[in-house]
Amino acid sequence: MWGERDRPSVEHISLADAARIAVVAPATANFIGKLANGIADDMLTTALMAFNKPVVICPSMNVNMYRNPILKANLERLVSCGYHVMIPESGDLACGWTGEGRMPEPEAIFHEVKRLLGPRDLDGLRLLVTAGPTEEPLDPVRFLTNRSSGKMGVAVAKRALARGAEVTLVSGPLKVPEPTGVNHIQVRTAAEMMDRVLERFHESDIVVKAAAVADFRPETFCEEKLKKEDFGTSINLVRNPDILATLGSRKWPDQILIGFAAETSDAIQKARVKLKNKNVDMLVLNDVSQPGAGFDCDTNIVRLLFRSGEDEQLAMMSKEDVADQILSRALALRRMAHH
Ligand code: CTP
Repeated sequence: MWGERDRPSVEHISLADAARIAVVAPATANFIGKLANGIADDMLTTALMAFNKPVVICPSMNVNMYRNPILKANLERLVSCGYHVMIPESGDLACGWTGEGRMPEPEAIFHEVKRLLGPRDLDGLRLLVTAGPTEEPLDPVRFLTNRSSGKMGVAVAKRALARGAEVTLVSGPLKVPEPTGVNHIQVRTAAEMMDRVLERFHESDIVVKAAAVADFRPETFCEEKLKKEDFGTSINLVRNPDILATLGSRKWPDQILIGFAAETSDAIQKARVKLKNKNVDMLVLNDVSQPGAGFDCDTNIVRLLFRSGEDEQLAMMSKEDVADQILSRALALRRMAHH
């Protein structure tokens, strides 16, 4: 670490100064324990102690080591200090066990690095994002909902945060982990989502409405669990408020409002009508009938429709990349609206 007697160097500092990002892959339980507790007794931990730029940690170990509560606490500590911890993959492990603990694929690590080094072009902007399904209860144990996982909205929230925005996420029950670093407001029903979104709307520069809001709710909510005998053969439904349309009718010209539409046929014509009626600046059209698009998928195939009449078909890409494309267009629209 210290060079030769006649050629002294402080290698751990010059390493830390030279790099824009550090990646530790594989990161062992021992290394994670040292880093989380400030132990710097070798080249790696000492260089990282002097490193004040993004650090990506890829925990890789036996599944039982990974589940050890001490390791978990150390990872939480690192995350709360701003380290980027990648979730290990599940599968066959070098030790013969099967479970979580595999190092993420190099391509996934590369992606994370690229993301972290990306531009902070949304600095100073406040984003409001909605995600996930809503749940419309019938009684304490039953509800109506839909297949939305929340992946698309969460990807938008994460990418906006990485690009420097201040992000509020209003979501129904998510099937994916909640992103760290965003102001997350959890709701259940469309009516609750409406209230929370309206509270925040006036202080938002860009609003991305990726939530799959239930269009209907049961007419009555029964406080007690309904008995078979009480049911009959039909449930009366009433319309939920349309949050996007409400925002469209209230927005300022420089607020950028982005809606989503999931269609299975005649997609573009229907979406154009929706864009106009709901007064949105951009509509992200998912054709949910295609493989590689829509609910629960990690990828998406979307077409972006603009108020100007233009539209743009994007190739199949990850939801995070779709999020980046949406955010870049939103930023361009925002700049246009401001000039
Ligand atoms: N949306 C909303 N409030 C509702 C329903 C939908 O804010 N009560 C928003 C969604 O967040 C999304 C867009 O509107 O941005 C989705 O519209 P979609 O469900 O495709 O359209 P609908 O107008 O419900 O049309 P359809 O008649 O096709 O169901």
